[in-house]
Amino acid sequence: MGGWTEGYVGGIDYIRAVYRDWSPALLCFALTLRGWRPPEVLRRGSFTMAEPGCGHGLTSALLAGAHPAARFEAMDFNPSHIAGVRRLADDAGLANATFLEESFADHARREGPMLDAVALHGVWSWVSAENRAILLDTLRRRLAPGGVVFVSYNALPGTLAYMPLRRLLVERCAEGGGPLPDRIARAVEFASRMAAQGGGWFGATDGVVERIEQLRHKSPNYIAHEYLNSDWTAFYHADVAREMAAAKLEFAGAAVPMEQLHDLTLSPAQQALAAEASDPAQGETLRDVMTNRSFRRDLFVKGGERLGPAERRALLGETRFALLTAADDLPEVASTPVGRLPFPPALYQPLGEALAEGPQSLDALLGRPALAAQGEDAVLRALVLLTSLSLAAPVMPEEGFAERKASAERFNAVVLERHRFGDTPGQLASPLLGAGVPVSRIEALFLLAARLGEDPPAFAWHHLSADGITIGRDGERCEGDEASRAELARRHAAFTQRRLPLLKGLGVA
Ligand SMILES: C[S@@+](CC[C@H](N)C(=O)[O-])C[C@H]1O[C@@H](n2cnc3c(N)ncnc32)[C@H](O)[C@@H]1O
Repeated sequence: MGGWTEGYVGGIDYIRAVYRDWSPALLCFALTLRGWRPPEVLRRGSFTMAEPGCGHGLTSALLAGAHPAARFEAMDFNPSHIAGVRRLADDAGLANATFLEESFADHARREGPMLDAVALHGVWSWVSAENRAILLDTLRRRLAPGGVVFVSYNALPGTLAYMPLRRLLVERCAEGGGPLPDRIARAVEFASRMAAQGGGWFGATDGVVERIEQLRHKSPNYIAHEYLNSDWTAFYHADVAREMAAAKLEFAGAAVPMEQLHDLTLSPAQQALAAEASDPAQGETLRDVMTNRSFRRDLFVKGGERLGPAERRALLGETRFALLTAADDLPEVASTPVGRLPFPPALYQPLGEALAEGPQSLDALLGRPALAAQGEDAVLRALVLLTSLSLAAPVMPEEGFAERKASAERFNAVVLERHRFGDTPGQLASPLLGAGVPVSRIEALFLLAARLGEDPPAFAWHHLSADGITIGRDGERCEGDEASRAELARRHAAFTQRRLPLLKGLGVA
């Protein structure tokens, strides 16, 4: 690769993923929860959003499909990322999204509309200080008053534990020849052999051996983009907040709603210690020290307006939520990034049953005696947890639904077609959520077959077998066409009974 990568890893594309973290309804919920007035344009779906360093651009493309009244500007200097997403945008007729093959510096020279929201995912820790300065300058000039920025980064002190791993991978990947994916595989294998010896840093640092083990199951594309850039900087939150302040941006809160619930991770004494900091950025950094945070997803606002308690309550009360799983699949104990959390049936059962009837506002939920008996704080907290764990999601206002549905259907038709050949963005655009809904390739092939009037199991098997994919049942491989089709027929029956009603409710089937 030539010099255009500016130290960023070249010759290997990023993973093809869609992220939900900056979908508009979720941004609005996270802001409201922390007492900020969400931008009206985001609530209504008529915003302008940018994603610098968009990778394959699938999140911006999906959001453009789900929000026809919004405009999207996404860019990345990797031409193969942009070529792929332009093809998707052309096929789906996305007239509201522009995908630019530009560096941050090229882009900064361009004039453009004021932005209501900017997503910087997987960028801040992985680019140079010069490039961060360019991005900050773009935010300073182009973010509209009231606008919101989503930014993720490797955080201190938690990332300190992984610095030797990054060093090890960089050094080992530089050894020997061959294609980068092979060198990455050898480097991970080497780290794993060292870890097996125990002792030293491996023995002294919690989580390191597990992380190396996890790397064995990650794609080389992920590992390259996470660990192999020349620039790899972890930040204390307070330092990010200081940099953002230069662009008139103020920390608004954690983008993942449950990360705003400090009592999940800190004892009362620890919370009191954090509260001793007069500067909120220091307080946040103290919490990171006490929880040893290694990754952050933050929201910053420019000229954000504070809500009074009554208005915050009113906005939360009218926020509607939809379930992303069957009600009887809600767990009684959920494994979360902060440990195992109980989901008491007295609260979650009536909540699940209510949401299974369709989207409900917090106020409507509290109108039900079984939930009113649990109290407002408990119900709101449950919604925060369900939302953060992708078991539920806030939904867009009813206004504009018909337009969103027509646009999402066009987008989804193209996405489903791509699953024939395994070119799988893996998510469909929901006009209800204004965000993505994950579907497996088999589910997508079932949905595509139904649209085309084909027999779903036979259609799915035709495409899967063409790619050399085999089907398993109870850990055993199904041998031959007949057994594979029979297994797919069984899965299709289960899909029709349990998943399809949910997907229909979310407007993606
Ligand atoms: C880790 S990926 C994140 C992609 C996307 N935001 C996502 O979350 O899926 C970072 C992306 O930033 C792009 N990038 C890095 N430095 C850049 C620069 N100076 N100008 C434009 N794009 C850049 C890379 O090509 C890569 O696709």
